[in-house]
Amino acid sequence: MAHAELDRLQVCLNFALDTLRKEMDNSQLPPLSQHSSVEHPQAVMLYTHKCLTFMNHPLACLGELKNLIQSPLDKRMDDIFSAYSSACMDTLIKTSIIDHLSESSNPSEGIAVAELASTFELDSQKLVPILRFCAANGWVRETRDSSFALNRCSRIFIKGRTGRRLNLSFLSIVRVMPAWVTESDWKLSRSPAQTSFQIAFNTPLQQFSWIQQNPQALIPLADHLQVLGDMSTPSIVADYPWERLETPVIVDCGGGKGGLVTAILDAHPSFQAIVQDMENVVVMTGSLMKERRPHDIESGILKVEAHDLFQSQPRIGNEYSFILRHILHDWPDKEAAAILGNVARALGPKSKILIIEMVAVPNVDSTATRSAKSFLLDSDDKRPNYCIPSHFGAASKLVNAFSVNMLSLMNGCERSLREWESLVNGCGLRITNVYPLRAHTSVIECALDV
Ligand SMILES: C[S@@+](CC[C@H](N)C(=O)[O-])C[C@H]1O[C@@H](n2cnc3c(N)ncnc32)[C@H](O)[C@@H]1O
Repeated sequence: MAHAELDRLQVCLNFALDTLRKEMDNSQLPPLSQHSSVEHPQAVMLYTHKCLTFMNHPLACLGELKNLIQSPLDKRMDDIFSAYSSACMDTLIKTSIIDHLSESSNPSEGIAVAELASTFELDSQKLVPILRFCAANGWVRETRDSSFALNRCSRIFIKGRTGRRLNLSFLSIVRVMPAWVTESDWKLSRSPAQTSFQIAFNTPLQQFSWIQQNPQALIPLADHLQVLGDMSTPSIVADYPWERLETPVIVDCGGGKGGLVTAILDAHPSFQAIVQDMENVVVMTGSLMKERRPHDIESGILKVEAHDLFQSQPRIGNEYSFILRHILHDWPDKEAAAILGNVARALGPKSKILIIEMVAVPNVDSTATRSAKSFLLDSDDKRPNYCIPSHFGAASKLVNAFSVNMLSLMNGCERSLREWESLVNGCGLRITNVYPLRAHTSVIECALDV
């Protein structure tokens, strides 16, 4: 019997894995291993563009295979229980079990749950299912019955590592989303102050105004956003042609803790930089920069200033180019156009605006997609059609999850290239180039449309 989809996915997966193996060898990367307690360079290095593409292909195939094979009710239960995945990892972090496992003298043996329970004065009956669920999710290994060890992935959660700061829970917002969309008074509203966020937090304030009134929320959010930003910063620094920028000063609008411009200054010391953000944020960023980069602050190479994105941009003319990273996706079209318009009106002919965001790809075609075609041209165009959706299916879950999250928080969204073009053109700008990054985001470079 012909199992067309299954057969195509099998061929695709085999081909994708063979190609990934070759590409990793070409890049002299060590083999991937879930049994290794040593971190793979994957966690910290920039892959080649080719290697990244060939990682997405097997992930996309696996996702499509899972969708094809798994029973719908199992799949639904998987979704429902996914909230426990983060809860179980949070428990291992909160108890410091993660740190304890990382200090094990024999990482391949692991540590018995009885020992963990006695060290942390916890109930072993609770710890076993929690650790087993983490093992099923690939975060830890069960080395023998009821003994557990860290694997390479969970090292990212050890104290001091970045995974630890990626810690915001959106659960209360997630829970109210179906009611917000289907039956609330705001179900047709596009306002950033009429979303799941206001319902979940019982507030009339939009997210950023709420944070101003609730200062205890600022540091965890800023840390979380910095880690998200750091995921793309090395690629932004390496993959955008900064040397072609004709303006001496880079202004990072809504620049948060300033991690991006400081990384750019490190790589390109001829630039000066300005971090702009809300009053409450620049107080934090200003003191951070004074501590970390006193010379740059004293010499004026780096400035930190309060500026409201909804007011006219005070840095005007050919001296300045502007970065908007993870800003416009927060906002619905009307507000996004207001923010972009304020920057557009400040541009000189030499200035650029670098919008750094995800570019959403509609999932329109599951076989003859553009990316799959180019993949075929690189290899063997007699192969059967691939079953990878144009947006990489399961491998693009994160982009789509971000989009739903932005929607629930502020009526924002991740935009497709067509939507970016329409937003940019509506502000008297044109897209001069789109630079794909070795990250989930791209740099959409814009200039005055003259
Ligand atoms: C999603 S974060 C992105 C931070 C930073 N650009 C990055 O990539 O890490 C959005 C930022 O916009 C800032 N922001 C929100 N509303 C603003 C406003 N009205 N004026 C200035 N900044 C604002 C927030 O304080 C926050 O730092």
